[in-house]
Amino acid sequence: MPESERVRRHATTEAGVSERSGVLITLEGCDGCGKSTQAALLCERLAACGLPVGPSSALGAVIREPGGTAAGEAVRDVLLHGPEAPAPWTEALLYAAARAELVARVLLPELEAGRVLVLDRFIDSSLAYQGVARGLGIDAVLAVNAPGLHGLLPDLTIVLDVDPAVGLARAGGTPDRIEAEGLDLQQRVVAGFAVVARRFPERVRLIDGSRDIGLVAVDVEAAALEAIADAGLRLGG
Ligand code: TYD
Repeated sequence: MPESERVRRHATTEAGVSERSGVLITLEGCDGCGKSTQAALLCERLAACGLPVGPSSALGAVIREPGGTAAGEAVRDVLLHGPEAPAPWTEALLYAAARAELVARVLLPELEAGRVLVLDRFIDSSLAYQGVARGLGIDAVLAVNAPGLHGLLPDLTIVLDVDPAVGLARAGGTPDRIEAEGLDLQQRVVAGFAVVARRFPERVRLIDGSRDIGLVAVDVEAAALEAIADAGLRLGG
């Protein structure tokens, strides 16, 4: 195992550095890319394989971002349904705050307990939406997230690649504030995820999300099982 990999599987907690034995898998993509559907299917499939999926308080459940904690859900409401659009850095910092709460209260303890966690969005959404699409810069957005991440990055990030026009049409329902900004933003988001994939090739996999749900699910499950096996082997070795 390369040293960088070994370091990545150790998360720094307030109490110091602790080894984690769980696996963190994140699903990402533009609005309407199908990640929520795929995250739910993946949880079902992994649980059917007998894996300890989801947080111990909600077995088999997908964790969503922003959200997953009381504070995170409140921040989600401000960000997506509040009375006025936040300025770009306010937006980036609010996503980072919701994430810091999720990492400290849910992700680190659950990963230390050896669970397989499936997240509907995580740090890479901030890099693509705020870093690239809003133009704040990937490094600057990563820097403000770093204290709350405590060194935690996903073992595997699956980016569902779809035409953003198809995504927006699929999203349906009443658009949240970001969806309501329209196609131009979504095109920059898709470009942003391509930048993220090039920047972190060791953990980011692009999967064609424009196909039939079942076909996409097969690829998502295969990538996840590979990452879980890899994490197990690395831990065993
Ligand atoms: P989304 O996960 O797509 O929820 P829903 O399935 O209810 O539409 O909505 C979250 C929105 O927040 C989405 O438009 C992407 C955006 N977002 C960011 O801009 N930055 C982030 O760091 C995260 C996590 C989400």
